[in-house]
Amino acid sequence: MIITLIISVLIVSAIGAALAFVLVLSEKKFNDYGQCKININEEKELIVTGGKNLLSALGEEKIFIPSACGGRGTCGLCKLKVLEGGGSVLPTEEPFLDKAEIASNMRLSCQVKVRNDLKIFIPPELFAIREYNCKCVEITDLTYDIKQFRFELVDPSNINFIPGQFMQFLTPVYDTNTEETYRAYSISSDPADKNHIELIIRLVPNGICTTYCFKYLKIGDPVRLNGPYGLFRLTDTDAPIVFIAGGSGMAPIKCMLHHMKNTNNKRKATYYFGANKLKDLCCVDLMHQFEKELANFRFVPSVAATEPGETWAGVKGLVTNAINDDLQDASNSEAYLCGSPGMIDAVIKLLRQKGIDEKNIFYDKFE
Ligand SMILES: Cc1cc2nc3c(=O)[nH]c(=O)nc-3n(C[C@H](O)[C@H](O)[C@H](O)COP(=O)(O)OP(=O)(O)OC[C@H]3O[C@@H](n4cnc5c(N)ncnc54)[C@H](O)[C@@H]3O)c2cc1C
Ligand code: FES
Repeated sequence: MIITLIISVLIVSAIGAALAFVLVLSEKKFNDYGQCKININEEKELIVTGGKNLLSALGEEKIFIPSACGGRGTCGLCKLKVLEGGGSVLPTEEPFLDKAEIASNMRLSCQVKVRNDLKIFIPPELFAIREYNCKCVEITDLTYDIKQFRFELVDPSNINFIPGQFMQFLTPVYDTNTEETYRAYSISSDPADKNHIELIIRLVPNGICTTYCFKYLKIGDPVRLNGPYGLFRLTDTDAPIVFIAGGSGMAPIKCMLHHMKNTNNKRKATYYFGANKLKDLCCVDLMHQFEKELANFRFVPSVAATEPGETWAGVKGLVTNAINDDLQDASNSEAYLCGSPGMIDAVIKLLRQKGIDEKNIFYDKFE
């Protein structure tokens, strides 16, 4: 009886081991794409090890394609033309590509696996995107879950960007994070300071990058950023401006206000900042300073709820209530929104009711 049991166990173990061996062999055979050539714009050829996605393969060669989701296929920014060798468009790409784009071989580079030689086209302006080796020189608490990080640019030592643009932050391997990964953060610093980049980051519980920044990143540590990216920026019209942001959505608006001050911009501008609680308000002193320094700027913070014992003499309620009560004839205004997709969608609805043309509503969704 015992002998039969032992033999059965041995047979099952042997079958398991054989299956594992076959799996490892087939994994090696089918996922070994060897060295692949990537021809770029008929001008340059890269040799890369197959098996990665195109976005990562290019990134490793210091060619940076816009991306805001770290290659998860959710931002739709990493488009480029794959003229040969890319296979068919995947279901994960379809929501981001219209018919004309598909017809012109546009693809999401994070979804295209390099399995063979490829021929691709990258718009020449993207070659201006650089990687910046930086040093973290300051970390400031703005609220209990928002910090401002200041990075000194080491190599290269200066940057030009348009206020409103974002950088990608390379999260290194740490603790349980086993893979380097990028996340997008809007630049919050004064664009006149070309040797530093500041980011305002809100902690997302269990988030890969924000946990790294809050728990592990220390003053003096090296940091790698690449960019700048994005089309969120002020127009050069004279239309009155409505800024709307909450939390870390403060970042690009702060940067735009620095720029308006530097360029003595006299446009009428009102900034509605929505906080859930008093403890969520940030940069209030700086905003009041901008009120003094900018000819036509007004800061309207609102607080949705106060805790027992707290007093708040400012606007009470959601930011949408504050806008509804304060914003009169907005038909000739432009609106600049930044923050969570939910907040942005609710605010766009309201702004349209207030008469703002949808083409004059600009936003960056932090998703
Ligand atoms: C163009 C752009 C600019 C951005 N600028 C900023 C900025 O200036 N400051 C800033 O703090 N963030 C900004 N973000 C968001 C940022 O890129 C990250 O998505 C965010 O910091 C979470 O990263 P993580 O790696 O910590 O979390 P992840 O590991 O990516 O996420 C962990 C989990 O949390 C969820 N999650 C992700 N983000 C949020 C969120 N914001 N709230 C609640 N749950 C979330 C995810 O769905 C996931 O389930 C920006 C995003 C975009 C697209
Ligand atoms: S990097 Fe976001 S969809 Fe490809």
